[in-house]
Amino acid sequence: MIDPDSSAPLVLGIESTCDETGVALVRGRTLLADVVASSMDSHARFGGIVPEVASRAHLEAFVPTLDAALDRAGVALSDVDAVAVAAGPGLVGSLTVGSAAAKALAIGLGVPLYGVNHVIGHVAVDELVHGAFPDQFMALVVSGGHSSLLLVGDIATDVVELGQTLDDAAGEAFDKVGRILGLPYPGGPHVDKLSQQGDREAIRFPRGLSRPKDLERHPYDFSFSGLKTAVARFVEAREDAGEEVPAADVAASFSEAVVDVLVTKTLVACERHGVSTLVIGGGFSANSRLRELAAQRCADAGIEVRIPPIRYCTDNGAMIAALGSAVLRAGLPPSGLEIGTDSGMPLTQVLV
Ligand code: KG4
Ligand code: ZN
Repeated sequence: MIDPDSSAPLVLGIESTCDETGVALVRGRTLLADVVASSMDSHARFGGIVPEVASRAHLEAFVPTLDAALDRAGVALSDVDAVAVAAGPGLVGSLTVGSAAAKALAIGLGVPLYGVNHVIGHVAVDELVHGAFPDQFMALVVSGGHSSLLLVGDIATDVVELGQTLDDAAGEAFDKVGRILGLPYPGGPHVDKLSQQGDREAIRFPRGLSRPKDLERHPYDFSFSGLKTAVARFVEAREDAGEEVPAADVAASFSEAVVDVLVTKTLVACERHGVSTLVIGGGFSANSRLRELAAQRCADAGIEVRIPPIRYCTDNGAMIAALGSAVLRAGLPPSGLEIGTDSGMPLTQVLV
């Protein structure tokens, strides 16, 4: 059988929006190599990402990460047909390092440069795992910076933002609750682990923007800051009373409140738009309860749910190369070498 990807252009993808330096090589929808270097260990002791430290780490990690990706893919730099780089949203200093590297490579190799949207990349990466997308699908992107519900036609040209978080992102809320519970940074995975030993029904925490009036005005928007405050109040009250904080129950009940709202609103959007496929992406899609509840409720609703394996959910170069490949397939013009970085790049903009 002829592999349809064998004649597709070889795309080099570069990711440097936050603390991960990612370089990947994709041909069509086939992933050839994906290498990630993280500077998270340097930030953990500060309890948050330090932008200056992240930028410097990208600078140091870029060339070794690129070399490792080429080596793993078994290709030479001169084989690369196009360079795709995450142009935003993200930290300005970090974005600048990736974009400068991408420009240098595009100039040196004489190949086109595509500046693409990091958040849309979190969706695009799923094509490398589960194959071509259907003509229309719903995407839920949940990360440390975003909780967005997108109605997608062609991933390169037709992305409509139905809703987003009005305050904290899902991962951000988890990180904050992790801090409240005295867990290490980033709190998301720790809260997730702890929640698996707790009772989801133990505490009835509020579901943000879920009252009838809110649902009318914000059917697809999310809000997690009230929930985070409710968790803080609950913990403080126990501490003030000299009682032990039931940390596992808090983690489980909090997780349930976040995931319940995410899945409920997403399924309403699928139903109202007549969409039968859901793609979930972003670092928070590593969350075990989200995976479980989405699988369960989607099965009940007859909706196919696609979630990439965890290593493709956190930031990586494969997602950028995948989106670059989709943009090339759609025949869109390259971004040009004068592109800047856009820390607040809107979700409706797939390509610069
Ligand atoms: O997409 P990502 O790697 O970076 C951003 O672009 O934000 O997402 C990282 C976020 C962090 O907030 C992290 O705590 C959260 O995803 N996260 C999790 C889990 N794994 C990562 N949150 C809850 N449960 C997890 N298992
Ligand atoms: Zn991300």
